[in-house]
Amino acid sequence: MSELRFDDRVVVVTGAGGGLGRTHAKLLAARGAKVVVNDLGGTVSGEGQNASAADAVVADIKAAGGQAVASYDSVEDGDKIIACALDTFGRIDIVINNAGILRDVSFHKMTADDWDAVYRVHVLGAFRVTHAAWPHLRNQGYGRVIMTSSAAGLYGNFGQANYGMAKLGLVGFAHTLAIEGQSKGVHVNTIAPVAGSRMTETILPPDVLKHLGPEYVSPLVAWLAHEDCAETGAVFEVGGGFFAKLQWARSVGETWRIGREITPEAIRQRWPAITQLEKIEQPATVMAAFVPIMENIQRGPSRGGNALIDVDRALEHTFPEHQTSHDESDLALYALGVGAATDPVDQAELRFVYELHGDGFQALPTFGVIPAMNAFVHHTTRGELSTFFNFGPERILHGEHRLELLRPLPVKATLTHRTKIVDIVDKGKHARVDILIESADENGETIMRNTATTMILGAGGWDGERQDRTEATAGPEGAPDAVVSQKIPANQALLYRLCGDRNPLHADPGFAQAVGFERPILHGLCTLGFGARHVLETFGRDRAFKSVSVRMSATTFPGETLITEMHRQDDQRILFRAKVKEREAVVLSHGVIELH
Ligand code: NAI
Repeated sequence: MSELRFDDRVVVVTGAGGGLGRTHAKLLAARGAKVVVNDLGGTVSGEGQNASAADAVVADIKAAGGQAVASYDSVEDGDKIIACALDTFGRIDIVINNAGILRDVSFHKMTADDWDAVYRVHVLGAFRVTHAAWPHLRNQGYGRVIMTSSAAGLYGNFGQANYGMAKLGLVGFAHTLAIEGQSKGVHVNTIAPVAGSRMTETILPPDVLKHLGPEYVSPLVAWLAHEDCAETGAVFEVGGGFFAKLQWARSVGETWRIGREITPEAIRQRWPAITQLEKIEQPATVMAAFVPIMENIQRGPSRGGNALIDVDRALEHTFPEHQTSHDESDLALYALGVGAATDPVDQAELRFVYELHGDGFQALPTFGVIPAMNAFVHHTTRGELSTFFNFGPERILHGEHRLELLRPLPVKATLTHRTKIVDIVDKGKHARVDILIESADENGETIMRNTATTMILGAGGWDGERQDRTEATAGPEGAPDAVVSQKIPANQALLYRLCGDRNPLHADPGFAQAVGFERPILHGLCTLGFGARHVLETFGRDRAFKSVSVRMSATTFPGETLITEMHRQDDQRILFRAKVKEREAVVLSHGVIELH
């Protein structure tokens, strides 16, 4: 390994009369550098001056065969120190800003003089010395500058508000000089040392101090000062045998889309994500630091939202895939849950509930809503929606549903569901949220799509742009082609809920009353199951089912009589709606069933 030499290089080391500076100066001189040993020679707190400190170091260097000259000026007169280098050695190559004082006192007792004195030596001094050397370094296309920072600046330290300010100031100063000096071959780095010196002898215990000699720091300074070292703009912690590079780290952060109102409450809500440091990034330049901001601007304006709904996040959310399994028992339970086989000798319906049926057991097609909605409920119960939805179940009204089967439902299967929020519309008072759940079989083939349209009560009104993209389908006219009437047993909701939707609204009288119903209501998808089954048993026997879509326009209560009216539009399309006989209320509207 070739020795790192500094022959013909001229170095200024400020504050080199003692401590770290002295060791830096001696090491560089021993390797051929011509050294300006600068030191004002005052006390630790910066009072007085004394030429003897610098003189002693110069004498040591000369005695060892090196070249050095003493400079007694304060770093505040930095131009004089650089002039000394130029006058004595004819050039300047390396500036080591090391001079420093302490005025430790807790902030409430700190005087303006304490503040200013520390600033003047560390920051103004480093500025004056470096500023005087800078044109020479640039013009010769070569230079090395080292700043001396401190852990007190990087991390803060009790009683060192002034010193911490100054020491971190040097880091910012050095970062920019590194950028400006780069093209001129001038490299600028910063060290944050720990060393036993008169500065630390009163704060560190003697048995620690004895292992913290300045000679543990100076080799790094020498390397950073060498022409072989390409490092620039970096900060290093060094001392007691430890060497490490320091870089800013920040949390990956949280982003609000442009144009979105950001409330203090929203900040509070996202605080854990903003402040977590498990996932971090380490931008090294201003450009790198701006990347998330630029990306956010490029993503374009927010789609809106309010305290209850964050539209952008909801639309961008990726739900993890979720699997459900079902077999004949689940299918039979569902079929009973939507009122099938009330006539147990009706062969057509028996095949939905009896697994040994002679014609083969079959899935009632509308069972397809069950695994998909159960997958969605799984996401909600895991709290996955809480980063973008901030409301309770009492606001959610399952308004419309569409189920499309791409292939017949297997009677026994494990399905993988992919959920996505595909649209959110401001409806004025309320908000509409469309959820798409695509379900694939074990071979990865998509076998069905469910689209649930939910109204979120009182959650609209964020943009005044009240689009309504629901197709305005006119209801069928004239007398229906078929009507099926069925009394829904009073305990039907208690049966249906066993398919998966355990919302207490459908079982608990007290809960139902608390949210404004006289008693538990029937699940909207249960009413859908009844109505669709009525259509299928009328027009769909031995036909392949394609899709059902319907609006659940009003509440049905168990015990009521459902009347399903059907209009056969053509061979493949039946329009339907359902009323409750006792109340003349339309509970299903805009119903369409498609057959193959
Ligand atoms: P030190 O007190 O032995 O050395 C500082 C030197 O700077 C003294 O010789 C002093 O006379 C000189 N000086 C003060 N004001 C001056 C001025 N206006 N003009 C010219 N020279 C002046 O202390 P030490 O520990 O060697 O400190 C060296 C540098 O390292 C300082 O900047 C200090 O803040 C920094 N530092 C030291 C740490 C340590 O653990 N020793 C920790 C972190 C930073």
